[in-house]
Amino acid sequence: MEERKGFGSNFGFLMAAVGSAVGLGNIWGFPYKMGANGGFTFLMVYIFLGVTTGFIVMISELAIGRKTGKGAVEAYRMVSKKFKWMGWMGIASAFFILFFYCALGGYCIKYVILNVGDLLKAGFGANVFAEAAAANGTSVGAEAWSALIANPTEAVIYGLIFVALTMLIVLGGVGGGIEKVCSVGMPALFVALLICIIRACTLPGAVNGLKYMFVPGWAVANGVIEEAPNIFQVFATAGGQMFFSLSLGMGIMITYGSYLDKKENLQKNAIIIVVMDTLVALMAGLCVIPGRFALDPTGALGGPSLLFVTMQNVFHKMPLGALFGILFYLLVVFAAISSSISLLEVIVAHFCDKARDAGKGDKRKVYSLIAAVFVGLGCILICVDSLGGAGISPFNILGIEKDVNGNLPTWCDCWLDFFDCISEGILMPLGALLMCLCIGWELGPKMVDDECCLEGQSFKMKGFFNICVKFITPLCMILVLYGQIKEFFF
Ligand code: PFF
Repeated sequence: MEERKGFGSNFGFLMAAVGSAVGLGNIWGFPYKMGANGGFTFLMVYIFLGVTTGFIVMISELAIGRKTGKGAVEAYRMVSKKFKWMGWMGIASAFFILFFYCALGGYCIKYVILNVGDLLKAGFGANVFAEAAAANGTSVGAEAWSALIANPTEAVIYGLIFVALTMLIVLGGVGGGIEKVCSVGMPALFVALLICIIRACTLPGAVNGLKYMFVPGWAVANGVIEEAPNIFQVFATAGGQMFFSLSLGMGIMITYGSYLDKKENLQKNAIIIVVMDTLVALMAGLCVIPGRFALDPTGALGGPSLLFVTMQNVFHKMPLGALFGILFYLLVVFAAISSSISLLEVIVAHFCDKARDAGKGDKRKVYSLIAAVFVGLGCILICVDSLGGAGISPFNILGIEKDVNGNLPTWCDCWLDFFDCISEGILMPLGALLMCLCIGWELGPKMVDDECCLEGQSFKMKGFFNICVKFITPLCMILVLYGQIKEFFF
């Protein structure tokens, strides 16, 4: 039978796992949510949840993966009678997330090109929108974004380029493709982020961004948001954000763990991934938010506009902004790709394992291609829908009524939110909750302990893990799931 090839080194594994975790969620969601949800209070809640929930689910997934040496579907089938179907939830989530992730990744590629054009003062740069912005009393970012949204064909092309790049890396295999790209790209991303932070934080007025992010109550006191969220809302937002950001609850860490050598320390690796992901989210905040407060103080702080309108305005107004714009959007594209390859790998790994076990060889190339075709179709739907602008959203098809204010529930207001609701809103938190119940109450926490203590390693946090996986983590997961359902449906 053909050998199952894994990571060449622990560093390679770490870079791939951190790469999966660090993505659009960190650069886009975290900074805004932190400021709007009490700043430092949010950070404390986030860290509490990171320790009691993120770390616990992370080490459990890695342990299941390494113990079985299989992708998510086969891994659950091997360890549990009751929960053997759960891997399929992961595969479904991976598809749904990839649909919109690739569309957004494609938009980011477009913004790299816009800034290259701006630097060269060419006809394809952000500079071409300056006149229209002045005439219409809008901004360069707003004009560039409207132009992209009004041109679904262009959006589809960039989305498909992103899908193709993802596929090409996954096609190269875990050691040859994913590990190589992440081992070079992640340190580069870190350096690029540092350069952007220094630039953003040295702009006049940047200090307000730091206050928005870190001082509790500052956003409300200064009218940046209308009212302070209650602690339950902070908890639910931080939990949902942490989950998506750490790529948990859908089998990615099971899949990556299955390629990890038995001699590597699971506890240490799980801690490093959680810490690095949180650190990068904070670093992204230090770059995006001060930039916004310094150069586009009325610009949107959340949603697609933060990345595609506000940040583009920031770069347009900054001295040498096009250069920083290229650097910033390139780092966003890379962060998104290192996440999308992990999503595609969950799908491809399962089918490769099956083919290999049936003695048909690896067939990685064929499965990568087939999966990419399906992802491409979903990505086209999101791009053609223009993030809801095109009116082909699920609510139109299902005939759902708007409320008295003319708003639709989030789950059906556009195809992006629809897929986001099924994956991030339901399948991921539910997957993690069920996994904790499976480990805590069906298999017993000893399974994770045994896996962590292989080849003379020790599991120092065993006592803490046992209590969390049985009681604290499932409780937190129920609250997160409740918060997500409330956000999407009510
Ligand atoms: N963690 C990624 C981010 O923060 O953008 C997104 C993601 C990747 C979510 C992989 C889920 C996942 F399985």
